[in-house]
Amino acid sequence: MPKKKKIVVVYDEGALDISSEVQMALNGKTEPEGNSSSKDTSMTSVIEQVDTIVEVLTEVGYNVSTLLAGADISKLMEKLREDKPDLIFNFCESIEDNSYQEMNVAGLYELLGLRYTGSGPLTLGSCLNKVRTKEILSFHKLNIAPFRVFNSPDEVLRKKMTFPVIAKPIHEDASAGITNSSVVYDRDHLQSLLSEMLKKFKQPILVEQYIEGREFNVAIVGNEELVALPVSEIDFSTMPQGYHHIVSYEAKWMPDTVEYKSTVPVCPAKISSRFQKKIQNTAIKAYQVMGCRDYARVDMRVDKNGIVHVLEVNPNPDLSPGESGFSRSAAAFGWTYGQLISNIVESAFKRSVGTY
Ligand SMILES: Nc1ncnc2c1ncn2[C@@H]1O[C@H](COP(=O)(O)OP(=O)(O)O)[C@@H](O)[C@H]1O
Ligand SMILES: [Mg+2]
Repeated sequence: MPKKKKIVVVYDEGALDISSEVQMALNGKTEPEGNSSSKDTSMTSVIEQVDTIVEVLTEVGYNVSTLLAGADISKLMEKLREDKPDLIFNFCESIEDNSYQEMNVAGLYELLGLRYTGSGPLTLGSCLNKVRTKEILSFHKLNIAPFRVFNSPDEVLRKKMTFPVIAKPIHEDASAGITNSSVVYDRDHLQSLLSEMLKKFKQPILVEQYIEGREFNVAIVGNEELVALPVSEIDFSTMPQGYHHIVSYEAKWMPDTVEYKSTVPVCPAKISSRFQKKIQNTAIKAYQVMGCRDYARVDMRVDKNGIVHVLEVNPNPDLSPGESGFSRSAAAFGWTYGQLISNIVESAFKRSVGTY
């Protein structure tokens, strides 16, 4: 019998901490709330993903173990050297609350000559920086929302902008720092929002033109041959008056909030097959120009003229079973969760180590 291939799932426990800290900062709190109405599920979903991935890959016939990437990076290195996995399933999105390290961990795998799932350091770093992403996308003629970057609230007086706009911290993801108050309609409100956000997040703030319209995302799997899964739409039709049609932090992670309940993913989206192709092709181009590998999800908004704007590219998207957009899109395509994870793993095995 052939020897089972060894896969190590590497994950970090900081994923939630970053987002909840940012969220707490945004809310001006110093401690997490204990009540269930603000229950934050972003960490549970990391653990849940890891457990399920171990289960499904074991079922497929791999020899699977897990490894926590903590502050002492030499431990991770030693274990990886000892284990010599055939593949790392990379779930490490930060080290000690620092998402900037996501790309460095991938760089470490490269230095160790180890094969791993997902994008390389250059792509991970570029996609984490929303401005860098927009620069690359627009260079390749993809539509993006016009934007400005603010390091001081006073810059509002000097920079031209078309309102409404949406403000977000430049280096975050998972909607960290994005709330219903992030959309503003005039300079005065933008100025006070910026002074609050700059103080809290201690990083430049990206201010984008707010794209009024439908929101879609496309999950993609593969490398040389890409599979764009069915388009998913966020249905905002039940959002009460006074709430913007955006996927805020609450909408993404807090099931008991009105924002969560009023952002309903619909997959496949109810759109013509021509429009579906247009959205998928935009997503594929974004995936390719950002240098994504194995799997990623592209978020888009379509304005009233039918122009598809790429909001961002997520090279390390949520893969949790059932609940995540990715697994929902895979199901709409006819893949079981096990097939989705196997296809990602196979994509990583098929390409050569280190190829862009
Ligand atoms: N320019 C924009 N116009 C309209 N909505 C936006 C815009 N940028 C972001 N959003 C809303 O905010 C959400 C999160 O923004 P995104 O750029 O995808 O960041 P994150 O990495 O935090 O998911 C989007 O899903 C969308 O609902
Ligand atoms: Mg997003």
